[in-house]
Amino acid sequence: MEFQFMLLILLPTLLGIYSSFKALLSFLNWTWTAFFRRPKDLRRRYGSWAIVTGATDGIGKAASFELASRGLNLLLLGRNLSKLQLVTKEIHHNYFAIDIKTLVIDFSKDSGSEIVRKVREVIKGLDVGVLINNAGVSHKYASFVHEVESGVVESIVRVNIEGVMWVTKAVVPLMMERRRGAVVNIGSASASC
Ligand SMILES: NC(=O)c1ccc[n+]([C@@H]2O[C@H](COP(=O)([O-])OP(=O)(O)OC[C@H]3O[C@@H](n4cnc5c(N)ncnc54)[C@H](OP(=O)(O)O)[C@@H]3O)[C@@H](O)[C@H]2O)c1
Ligand SMILES: *[C@@H]1O[C@H](CO)[C@@H](O)[C@H](O)[C@H]1NC(C)=O
Repeated sequence: MEFQFMLLILLPTLLGIYSSFKALLSFLNWTWTAFFRRPKDLRRRYGSWAIVTGATDGIGKAASFELASRGLNLLLLGRNLSKLQLVTKEIHHNYFAIDIKTLVIDFSKDSGSEIVRKVREVIKGLDVGVLINNAGVSHKYASFVHEVESGVVESIVRVNIEGVMWVTKAVVPLMMERRRGAVVNIGSASASC
């Protein structure tokens, strides 16, 4: 009887309390870091350069402006040179004291070794502290996997998965050498659905 009581009532209750508590803690932690904690000094803590992939639009562009406002130099990655130059100009207009480099890479076309070679070449000797893997593509609207065209699936895998791996592989050795650095991968809230 006692054993049954434990198994049927006490154990699930404890598990329930434990997981609610865990969820609450992670929510509080998120609230703290997102709204209340003082921002870190990224330059001093990680290094003076930041790399942002997909920096010509949306979240990547906004992140680039934000990093520039913290005094980080930028290496901006994208497919389109004229868009990269335009963004460089815009950022320099607001934050003229930082260095900005650009690199044209098409993750859906360039091979892994090409990506690694191109990235290593520009970052040689730079104090790269932050990498933001932001470039990403998706289908136009929510779809089941069998509905998505093969070409679209291929570019999603190449840009969102392989591209992230190759750029990270190119950058991390520099961070290892300096024993500091931060890699941020932008995902999607839909991943938790
Ligand atoms: N916005 C949202 O509501 C949302 C929601 C969930 C997740 N996300 C994720 O957040 C990230 C940014 O989203 P966003 O909405 O800001 O995107 P966006 O405005 O569409 O910008 C995408 C960026 O990625 C670059 N890019 C696209 N394909 C590329 C390729 N083949 N090679 C190199 N660069 C490429 C684009 O550069 P060029 O066009 O200049 O080449 C552009 O700078 C993505 O990873 C996305 O999956 C966004
Ligand atoms: C590159 O960006 C420019 C400026 O937004 C645009 O006019 C041009 O069509 C783009 N080129 C390609 C190949 O997408």
